[in-house]
Amino acid sequence: MGKVVAGVAIVCAAAACAAAAVTVSYRMRVRSQRHHARSFLLEFQEACATPVARLRQIVDAMAVEMHAGLVSEGGSRLKMLPSYVDQLPEGDEKGLYYAVDLGGTNFRALRVQLGGKESRVIKQEYEEVAIPPELMIGTSEELFDFIAKELSSFVAREGDGFQPSAGQSRDIGFTFSFPVQQTALNSGTLLNWTKGFKVVDAIGQDVVAALQRCIQKRGPEMRITALVNDAVGALAGGRYWNEDVMIAVILGTGTNAAYVERAQAISKCGSTFPKSGEMVINMEWGNFWSSHLPRTPVDETLDNETMNPGEQGFEKMISGMYLGDVVRRVLLKMAQEAALFGPNVPRKMLEAFSLGTPDISKIHDDESSDLKMVGNVLRDVYGIQNTSLAVRKIVYEVCDTVAERGARLAAAGIVGILKKIGRDGTHSKDVGSPVHPECGKTVVAMDGGLYERYSKFRAYMQAAAAELLGDASKDVVIELSKDGSGVGAALLAASIAKNRRK
Ligand code: BGC
Repeated sequence: MGKVVAGVAIVCAAAACAAAAVTVSYRMRVRSQRHHARSFLLEFQEACATPVARLRQIVDAMAVEMHAGLVSEGGSRLKMLPSYVDQLPEGDEKGLYYAVDLGGTNFRALRVQLGGKESRVIKQEYEEVAIPPELMIGTSEELFDFIAKELSSFVAREGDGFQPSAGQSRDIGFTFSFPVQQTALNSGTLLNWTKGFKVVDAIGQDVVAALQRCIQKRGPEMRITALVNDAVGALAGGRYWNEDVMIAVILGTGTNAAYVERAQAISKCGSTFPKSGEMVINMEWGNFWSSHLPRTPVDETLDNETMNPGEQGFEKMISGMYLGDVVRRVLLKMAQEAALFGPNVPRKMLEAFSLGTPDISKIHDDESSDLKMVGNVLRDVYGIQNTSLAVRKIVYEVCDTVAERGARLAAAGIVGILKKIGRDGTHSKDVGSPVHPECGKTVVAMDGGLYERYSKFRAYMQAAAAELLGDASKDVVIELSKDGSGVGAALLAASIAKNRRK
């Protein structure tokens, strides 16, 4: 009997030892995997670093590329497209104007009743619909007919408080947020698509003529008087309220900037200067490139797998369409190489764009001590249950790294433009150009969901701009001009109509 008891005790002890050994080895494995994930994170953080010295190189490169893009067609990756907008709205525009806005995930139709200097915007209404994904890669006829159809039904619901001018067709400003070579204010050919659109037969077409044809078929009496990039629209919208607005930046699905340039500086346009001596330039800065940009192997694979590899390098490090996917790719590597989320890689994590920028903004906003929201996002998006605090911290830091890099690069871009127009504080006050006579305040109008809704991104961007500008930052205001781009196109249509009547 005694022997049996002793035998059982020995077996139990052995089992306990084995269990303890398994636990220890499991813990060691987890610890070593976490260690692996951490060292991967450190490596990634180093590759993404944007110390101020590097940002200054990017500021300089931006200013240099701007010059090059203005001198000759194809002189730079920055297209620096003349917008043919040589006069921005002044506030005295009156009447009913429409705008249609195509450029991201949603299409918008908008109307605005303007009452002149005193009453400004009397009434405004808009409608937004998601663009069916198949139209983003379909035919030009289908895409423009969809816009015309939505616009027609919106016009049909024009109610009280909107008064069209008697006997006149309604004017539309067409915000088309892709690179377009304009030939006049109301015409221009599409150069290439960005942001996941690929309607191949539209490339090289006059987008105004294409939309106008579809509108005519659908019936409403309307004419497109202005073709406007969203960055140009945001500049017009910003200027309507504040005459110090000189630059507009879009940080949304895509990214871009527009600014007021001296007509004489646009040498590629020859010597035909607009009367005002100024011209708004659509920079198409999403395609900016410089060897100083902190590009990592993760960015390279992302780029290779997009619809436009080799294009929009700056945009792919900055804008809302891509930030979430950069984070996803880093997490995926950590899941595959360091089993960050357990022995299995979450299947959905293999899907491109499965983590959106709104998700990383939620993660980034989590200030709780146990990072509960980080855990919730991982559970809701990828079905990962019960993450440890250590894992959540790693995920949080990946988001922080990607967003901080994007925000600081955007700030460097803005300071690059300020440098080009002599407003970064490194020039003497009396630059003496017709555009910048006495250099008072310079306002940068910001538009786009990324800037509007991602508070940590916004804060990083503002801080980096202040760091780069030093003392000059007191003369530069970077402010949100919500929805400026849509209304801006209507305002430009109004300002053209006003000048037509003069
Ligand atoms: C387009 C620009 C646009 C920007 C923001 C970019 O992808 O090329 O034309 O202004 O997105 O919408």
